[in-house]
Amino acid sequence: MNSNPRIPGHRLLHSPGPSHVPDEVIHAMSRQPMDMADPRLAQVIEACEMGLRRLLQTENSDVFIYAANGHGAWEAVNVNLLGPGQTVLVAGTGHFSESWAVQVEATGARVMRTPWAEGYPIDANAVEQVLRADTQKEIVAVFAVHTDTASGVTSDLRSLRAAMDAADHPALFVVDVVASLGAAPFAMDELGVNVVLGASQKGLMCPPGLGFAAVDARAMTICDRNPTPRFYWDWRLRKSELSYRKFCGTPPQNLLRGLEAALALIFEEGLDNVLARHDLMARTVRAAVQSWSEAGALHFFGRVPESRSSSVTTILVGAGVDPEAMRTVARERFQASVAGGLGPLAGRVFRIGHLGDMNAAMILGCLGAVQAAMTVQGIPHGRDGLQKAIACLSAG
Ligand SMILES: Cc1ncc(COP(=O)(O)O)c(C=O)c1O
Repeated sequence: MNSNPRIPGHRLLHSPGPSHVPDEVIHAMSRQPMDMADPRLAQVIEACEMGLRRLLQTENSDVFIYAANGHGAWEAVNVNLLGPGQTVLVAGTGHFSESWAVQVEATGARVMRTPWAEGYPIDANAVEQVLRADTQKEIVAVFAVHTDTASGVTSDLRSLRAAMDAADHPALFVVDVVASLGAAPFAMDELGVNVVLGASQKGLMCPPGLGFAAVDARAMTICDRNPTPRFYWDWRLRKSELSYRKFCGTPPQNLLRGLEAALALIFEEGLDNVLARHDLMARTVRAAVQSWSEAGALHFFGRVPESRSSSVTTILVGAGVDPEAMRTVARERFQASVAGGLGPLAGRVFRIGHLGDMNAAMILGCLGAVQAAMTVQGIPHGRDGLQKAIACLSAG
């Protein structure tokens, strides 16, 4: 391995978050901080709140932005909605539903889980059954991860909402869009979602460091009545016009400037175009993976083709294939970083991120680097992956 830290050219970042940060965002962040009474700071904050509301497609929800990562946004949701010993139903999606559930339990609430079958989306029928069986209406909320970044599977929120309605259960619908926002269609109000949470470092094209929650009026009343002790995360305290209160202290100004710039880029391109581009990037990666898999050593982890995510593709490797060694070669020799497996998938998969600030050349560069690394490592793969990717991009 070359120990010289200087790499000529760019190293491509194809982790499903953090993702590539556009120059416009980097430049927006490279500014001096402002005096906290400067009206320009209030304008930046307002642009972020309004932009997130627009992106989430919600008219009246409150938006709370935290100097935190996605785990911080989870904590905010957990402690604002759930009282000690109260129950939440976490819909099984794999690594991230389980991580969220464990974090809920750590803060003193009780978790019910629906089972997760590897490679499959949320089982909406299982959610409906659990809600129907809850005749005392003890379940406060259903927590669902839209795209599970570990499995690369996106669940159909419409059928989940329909299952909740069919059970005629008043539980709040709470959705984690950390990995899906800006990459897959999502409309908070239309889907009847009460609370959404996300983070900056994926489809939002910013560095890690901002988490947020959007909260509708019904969820705010649950928050108001919830006795859980809290301060930093408390939505009631953050409902303030003063930026120092809104952020429970000094706002993370430079990240907010970055978020403002990133949201402007999304709206300038047009959300429909952004989503169409993600769909094309995802189909391009899948075309290559389909071809690679013909040699029998690699398979799509997502078992349901229409549930495969537009943000990330998870590729299962056969016995005898070391995805970590392949990743190291792809990163160190061919300058493209792809992600490894998380939790129970560690050592069994690798993941290609294709979300955020992504274009055809970047995708082809990444696929070329992965194919080159597989060649170096002697991993059997169908040889025309790149040709299939080019064909997909050419057809548009
Ligand atoms: C779907 C999902 N939720 C939550 C998280 C946690 O976010 P963070 O790593 O920023 O704490 C992640 C991280 O990748 C994620 O993919």
